[in-house]
Amino acid sequence: MLFRLFRPLLFALLNGERAHALTIIGLQTGLLPRAPAADPILATSLAGMALPNPVGMAAGFDKNGQVPDAVLRLGFGFTEVGTVTPRPQDGNPRPRIFRLVEDKAVINRLGFNNAGLDAAQARLAARQHRPGIVGINVGANKDSTDRIADYVAGVRGLGGLARYIAVNISSPNTPGLRGLQDRAALTDLLAAVVAARSDLANAPPLFVKVAPDLTPAEIDDIADVALASGIDGLIVSNTTLARPSLHGGDAGETGGLSGAPLLAPSTGVLRAFARATAGKLPLIGVGGIASGADAYAKLRAGASAVQLYTGMVYDGPGIAARVCRDLAALLRRDGFTSVAAAVGVDA
Ligand SMILES: Cc1cc2nc3c(=O)[nH]c(=O)nc-3n(C[C@H](O)[C@H](O)[C@H](O)COP(=O)(O)O)c2cc1C
Repeated sequence: MLFRLFRPLLFALLNGERAHALTIIGLQTGLLPRAPAADPILATSLAGMALPNPVGMAAGFDKNGQVPDAVLRLGFGFTEVGTVTPRPQDGNPRPRIFRLVEDKAVINRLGFNNAGLDAAQARLAARQHRPGIVGINVGANKDSTDRIADYVAGVRGLGGLARYIAVNISSPNTPGLRGLQDRAALTDLLAAVVAARSDLANAPPLFVKVAPDLTPAEIDDIADVALASGIDGLIVSNTTLARPSLHGGDAGETGGLSGAPLLAPSTGVLRAFARATAGKLPLIGVGGIASGADAYAKLRAGASAVQLYTGMVYDGPGIAARVCRDLAALLRRDGFTSVAAAVGVDA
């Protein structure tokens, strides 16, 4: 409520990137109230990890692992730090985040701005023994000559500190990165990261994060390779390069689109993956979630858990607790006694 009241002022005073920086500082102060404990009906598991609720913070919000515990205190059931690349990089020139207020959407072309693997390692080592599911999303440097080696470095360097690792091959802002989704390249990449994971004492689950801009044949290829590879799940999806009818003035900006216009397309791709993997591979549904009903639709389409980011830009830090409360009510309304019981009923 309070956030919605102050939002126009916040948006008028601060551009997207400054507002984000201020939010991180706010979370670092620890002044935000802790969300109430999740409703027990929401307790679930994802690739063997016990989650208090299935609503996670998506990658990109806490790129450098500065605030994972504060994010969990907001009521998120898990959080994904990153994308972390082996070496620090600045990303693209500013401005590079655009709010499309009329569309409840964002276009970003950040380009993996992050402090690099060593900095993430130091921060996450300092909180390693605290409770809560903190995954780490790894990527490749823009100027890397061996991208597979970058992902292997991420798994080796951060896998011991992560409850799970997400291999991000779907950012549209690193030229050529999405090419790793092609059958042959994906087969090589997944063999390399699975092998790197097997050298780790804790061997965390490995997820692969895919784009929403895939043809049915590409979805089948990725599903086949993923099922054969030994990875533990897919995160569906990253931002889209498509531009469905948008009203915001910055709709023509280059970059990946997230938020409300991504909800239906990303849920469609999620459902296609649920069918192609026939329930044999856990899926995490991401894209456009702003309500309990949106999260519920993703679960019903086949997601074992969900994530959101842009919804928090528009609805503020109370969004996780609200989505959880409304999701629990929807599950009960329809006679489900657990999250797992609803997964894939509409796939
Ligand atoms: C500003 C911004 C930065 C992002 N950075 C990353 C990133 O570093 N790595 C990644 O895998 N996804 C990143 N994403 C994508 C989100 O994790 C998510 O997949 C996408 O935004 C769709 O979810 P949403 O509609 O709830 O935001 C970013 C999204 C936004 C808006």
